[in-house]
Parts: sequence; C-alpha cells; structure tokens
Amino acid sequence: MSNLKIVMASDHAGLALKQHLKPLLEKQGYAVADVGTHTPESTDYPDYAAEAGRRLAKGEFDRGIFICGTGTGIAIAANKIPGIRAAACTHEFLAEMSRRHNDANVLCLGERIVAPGLAEVLVQRFLATEFEGGRHARRVDKVKQLDRC
Ligand code: RB5
Repeated sequence: MSNLKIVMASDHAGLALKQHLKPLLEKQGYAVADVGTHTPESTDYPDYAAEAGRRLAKGEFDRGIFICGTGTGIAIAANKIPGIRAAACTHEFLAEMSRRHNDANVLCLGERIVAPGLAEVLVQRFLATEFEGGRHARRVDKVKQLDRC
C-alpha cells in the first residue's frame, strides 16, 4: 500500500484510459483525485493540465498522471507550470528514467498511442521508482532554475 497522493487529468481523448487506471490505483491504496474532464465532450487539454499542474506544484499532491490523445499536448502544457517536470512516456524504460534521472513529477500518456496494459506498466514503474539524486540533482536544479526565466 502507498500513501502517495496522485492527481489525474485528461481531455476527452484521454478520458477512457484515465477511467481505466484510476480504480486500479485506488485498489493499490493511492489517494487519487481526478480534476477532469469527466465527460466525453470535446475539450481542451491545457485547461486540465493547468488545474492539476498548479495544484501539484503547490504541494497538494505528490505525482500526476495526465492523459490526452498522444500525451504530447498535455505534457507541453504541464511543463509551462513552474515546478512541473512532465514526461510523456511510451516505454517502460522512459517511465523509469524520467524518475531516476529527471525527477519527473508528472507522467503523461497518450490514449491513442499506449494500450491499457502497457499504460498500467508505465504507471507502476513511474510510481515505484525513486529519483537517484547525485549528479542528476545538479542537473534537475538547473532545470528548476529555468522556471524563473
Ligand atoms: C485531441 O484531439 C488531441 O489533439 C489531444 O488529445 C492531444 O493528443 C494533443 O496533443
């Protein structure tokens, strides 16, 4: 069981995958909040990236899982928010390294790209992997400084 607090967000194109993943995470003991969207009507991914990303950056949550059609748009939007390091991942190795080397706090997925079974694997790897620190901390600190540019 984990006590990590997770915020989920999606547009309409990521809704079904979000709805697939959320109960699986809850079953594992994660506290999960879903900021929307909650309906299949067409909507705009930056709205949900902004809401979830700001609340994560404020410390209300530990990690985010954001989903759109490709994972690209919602990652681009999320990375505009100071404090957010979002990684769009399509492979287990990417999900792991985004944590070990980049201290990513948001995993972005594309429902049109990643099948539900692979998405489950990516999420588990992302949530279970710790940041390595060391030389990577220096680099992530430099990334954090870019928030102030
Ligand atoms: C919506 O059609 C789609 O463009 C969006 O979900 C995302 O894939 C954008 O990057």
